[in-house]
Amino acid sequence: MVSNSTIPMIKGTFPINKFQQIETPFYYYDMAVLRQTLDTIRQEAGKYDNFVVHYAVKANANPKILRVIREAGLGADCVSGGEVRASVEAGFPNNKIVYAGVGKTDKEINYSLDHDIFCFNVESIPELEVINELAEAKNKVAHVAFRINPDVGAHTHANITTGLAENKFGISMEDMETVIERANELKNVKFVGLHFHIGSQILEMNDFVALCNRVNELQERLMKRHIICEHINVGGGLGVDYHHPNHFPVPNLAEYFAVYHKHLRLYPGQTLHFELGRAVVAQCGSLISRVTYVKKGTNKQFAILDAGFPDLIRPALYQAYHRIENLTSDEAEETYDVVGPICESSDVFLKAVDLNKAHRGDLFALRSAGAYGEIMASGYNCRELPKGYTSEELV
Ligand code: LLP
Repeated sequence: MVSNSTIPMIKGTFPINKFQQIETPFYYYDMAVLRQTLDTIRQEAGKYDNFVVHYAVKANANPKILRVIREAGLGADCVSGGEVRASVEAGFPNNKIVYAGVGKTDKEINYSLDHDIFCFNVESIPELEVINELAEAKNKVAHVAFRINPDVGAHTHANITTGLAENKFGISMEDMETVIERANELKNVKFVGLHFHIGSQILEMNDFVALCNRVNELQERLMKRHIICEHINVGGGLGVDYHHPNHFPVPNLAEYFAVYHKHLRLYPGQTLHFELGRAVVAQCGSLISRVTYVKKGTNKQFAILDAGFPDLIRPALYQAYHRIENLTSDEAEETYDVVGPICESSDVFLKAVDLNKAHRGDLFALRSAGAYGEIMASGYNCRELPKGYTSEELV
């Protein structure tokens, strides 16, 4: 666990008076940060006329967030029928919705066919054949891209790297030509692109360079067989600075898009698609929780919050760091283990962290929780799901 003590103590700005009237725990979304991030995406991706950005809905499907992202013109990248539905309901145009996932069910495929989505990112031949069969029954032709496993490692947590040969995702590079040929034989699918995704929370730009090199290699291989596709989709994965959300509210999108522009060779007419999740929404969100008790142990003291891992599971599941701030105290710092109320020892948000002296009733913010926070919440222990509020609602 990392302590806050190495980080300059600038706190975020929050409408604390409003917070006092809301039942905790809840998610708070700073829409100025979200809008600034979306503006940066528009500006930086907009420098290259063939770049198309989708938002990975899995990061946060709160309808209030989806609406703003849709208004900014991003497409939707979905991994379930439920996400396709959430995107349709949020008003994303059908032709901007892509759907990936290793285990798409017939029901999910049918729903997506009914909505004429832009593209299915297909992960196996059996899945391709099912999509073809279901499309035929509806007298439609489904656009398909193949998710190729590029066998490129990413410097991130083992549970969130997805592009290695040992992962369950995608079609292996050796089988790429075979699946394309199979698609060409089938009448109700049309091969339109290649899809890749190497992992998440990637801050090492060289990982993306490695992906670009692999895509170039594969494209050259296909070129020799006169196969050229319309779209290349490189997935998402750009990380955010969990340690300094106040200093770096917007991730380094300029460098990210520039890396792809510099290293990925597109053929004339090809478009390059991105599926960013965390980079879009992580920094705008905080989990706001109240201190229920401050408990002194023999050698340490605990700040016991009313939020636990059912509300934000990332620390328990991935040993992820979320910066914590005591919003309602300016007293001298003391050292705390910040924990939740669940009867499991993994219900710890951060150990040995220096925070302004805590009292019962203080409000804590767990920062950078906009991505994979609210959406991963569960009702474990019959707890209510946390609600989400935006800064625009709390003025
Ligand atoms: N595209 C595909 C095919 C993906 O599998 C993912 C994320 C993304 C795009 C978006 O990646 P992002 O830009 O957010 O890195 N729950 C974990 C993260 C799991 C990410 C899974 N795939 C966490 O809390 O860190």
